Amino acid sequence: MLLSMTTAMAAHGSVTKTTFGTTPDGTAVDLYTLKSEGIEASVMTYGARVVSIKTADRDGKMSNVVLGYSALDGYLADKSTYFGAIVGRYGNRIAFGKFSLDGKQYQIPTNDHANSLHGGTVGFDRMVWQGRAIADGVEMTLVSKDGDQGFPGTLTVHVRYTVHHGALRIDYVSSTDKDTVVNLTNHSYFNLAGDGQGTILHDELMLPADQYTPVDSGLIPTGVLAPVEGTPFDFRKATVIGARIDEPNEQLKLAGGYDHNWVLRGKNGEVKTAARVYDPLSGRVLTVTTTEPGVQFYTGNFLTGAKYGTAQEGHEKHAGFCLETQHFPDSPNHPAFPTTELKPGETRHSTTTFTFSTQAK
Ligand code: GLA
Repeated sequence: MLLSMTTAMAAHGSVTKTTFGTTPDGTAVDLYTLKSEGIEASVMTYGARVVSIKTADRDGKMSNVVLGYSALDGYLADKSTYFGAIVGRYGNRIAFGKFSLDGKQYQIPTNDHANSLHGGTVGFDRMVWQGRAIADGVEMTLVSKDGDQGFPGTLTVHVRYTVHHGALRIDYVSSTDKDTVVNLTNHSYFNLAGDGQGTILHDELMLPADQYTPVDSGLIPTGVLAPVEGTPFDFRKATVIGARIDEPNEQLKLAGGYDHNWVLRGKNGEVKTAARVYDPLSGRVLTVTTTEPGVQFYTGNFLTGAKYGTAQEGHEKHAGFCLETQHFPDSPNHPAFPTTELKPGETRHSTTTFTFSTQAK
């Protein structure tokens, strides 16, 4: 971190900009540190990624509760975890990377076996966004050109990260000049005991959804909205994440754990609770609210402990969980799912808030 300067001062917090590194093509990557009561979050312009979120445990000790690397080279070398990134233009999977829109077929690069994942081989997570300090936070802007990764239309995306009293709020705004599809989310992995403090299997999750979208062997939804009732996918009452993860359930086997989309109650576009997680060790509680219709709960099944970059930090299987608020995977190929289509003249808005608190023993 070279130079530091306070670029915006809000009533309760501050926004500071520093240099995080330089990409191989010489583009500078900035890090914005947002502070408010009970929270300090850092977000960088590479992938508009959340690099750290520091919050207090039940004894008031501040720790970083998201997985990441201490230097940019770790993020550049790691091509599989999407730590902290904004994923797009289509977060999650599109079957065979194919969809049709207005009678035309489109092909996105297939980077996850036969399917496309998180927007293709060079998704929004690998692009340097334009950062701008705003009140209580930072606005990240990206213009994805017509034809980028095979998607139609020039898409302009603004992602605003702001902090308010122990919460990190993310607002997404996008617009296009041709019909296209959009599904944006944040891919932070949380470990409420702190990055590097073991696995998340002992945490208690409450996820208020009555249905989820079962998948095939490529983790593409079959199209069915299945009841969670009587399955290891029922988290309507707070349940320990690891309690049923090894049960002989076909869906859990296909994904090596949880890596599924839950259908949230309430209307698409209205704010609703997506999840509440309690870590008994630290006492930290994370509550997620969103306007999105779904949430991908992923238990870090593909984390391998691999070490990347100069600092050589590794992250074991289940070292973190993701709660990716989103439209359902492969929606362009499922007309019955809430639509991900965006037309010229329309603006797509969505909001997700991660609120941190603590609970006594
Ligand atoms: C998402 C997917 C997972 C995995 C991770 C990245 O959460 O659903 O299957 O690809 O991203 O490793």
